Amino acid sequence: MKKIVFLTGAGISAESGIPTFRGAIDGLWENHNVEEVATAKAIKEHPDIVYKFINELRNKYKDCKPNSAHKAIADLEKDYDVTVITQNIDNLHEQAGSSKVIHLHGDLSKVRAIGTSYEVLFDYPEEGIAPASEINGFKVRPHIVLFGEDVPNIAKAIPVIKQADICVVIGTSFNVYPAAGLIQYVDINNPIYYIDPNPAYTPGYPDIKVIKATATKGMEELVKELRNK
Ligand code: OAD
Repeated sequence: MKKIVFLTGAGISAESGIPTFRGAIDGLWENHNVEEVATAKAIKEHPDIVYKFINELRNKYKDCKPNSAHKAIADLEKDYDVTVITQNIDNLHEQAGSSKVIHLHGDLSKVRAIGTSYEVLFDYPEEGIAPASEINGFKVRPHIVLFGEDVPNIAKAIPVIKQADICVVIGTSFNVYPAAGLIQYVDINNPIYYIDPNPAYTPGYPDIKVIKATATKGMEELVKELRNK
């Protein structure tokens, strides 16, 4: 089977009711100052505020459902070896049925044990978490990558993207590194598609095939194009 690797950003979940991030980088995210609630410094200095913010984020978006773009990606597993590398912290790809998903920025449905050298994850408790909370004897924190923190899964993503026969980027502004740099690893002979209604400027990739459309419409076009090949 040919390998297709999807690189997804906030735009793929927009039609599921989760707003994208642009603007948040320099200013407010969900009416909060990003510096205050979503950085490595913030979680060290005032973890209570950060945990409260993430609890609220979790509650607000926990009932969102995958849209037809997430589902179309999962359906392609019938004909392709599909891996999804996502910057999103929602789990809509998994809910849609994708079996291989690499989360670069973590997963808002999980909390992670603090102070272990290996990854111990638990489901996000219904009642939320506080810095003093313990699960199975572990102190826990939200399993998301805050600004200024490492992105350990980039090491898993690079070998996958190097193997891609086809790469499809959906709904990202190519602003946040290291995720934005991943397309440089696609073999130069293989196609890169980019679905976005307001695509970013990608001058380094003259052959990129831009599908200027929302994720759901763009995936319909892509599936047609793949069938015609
Ligand atoms: P951005 O918010 O930067 O970009 C969203 C992209 O989605 C833009 O290019 C939009 O044009 C596009 N878009 C909007 N509606 C769409 C739709 N219906 N269908 C398809 N595309 C649509 O989001 P990301 O690039 O994902 O980091 O942001 C990257 C990272 O910045 C996030 O993972 C997060 C954020 O801060 C962390 O949390 C560490």
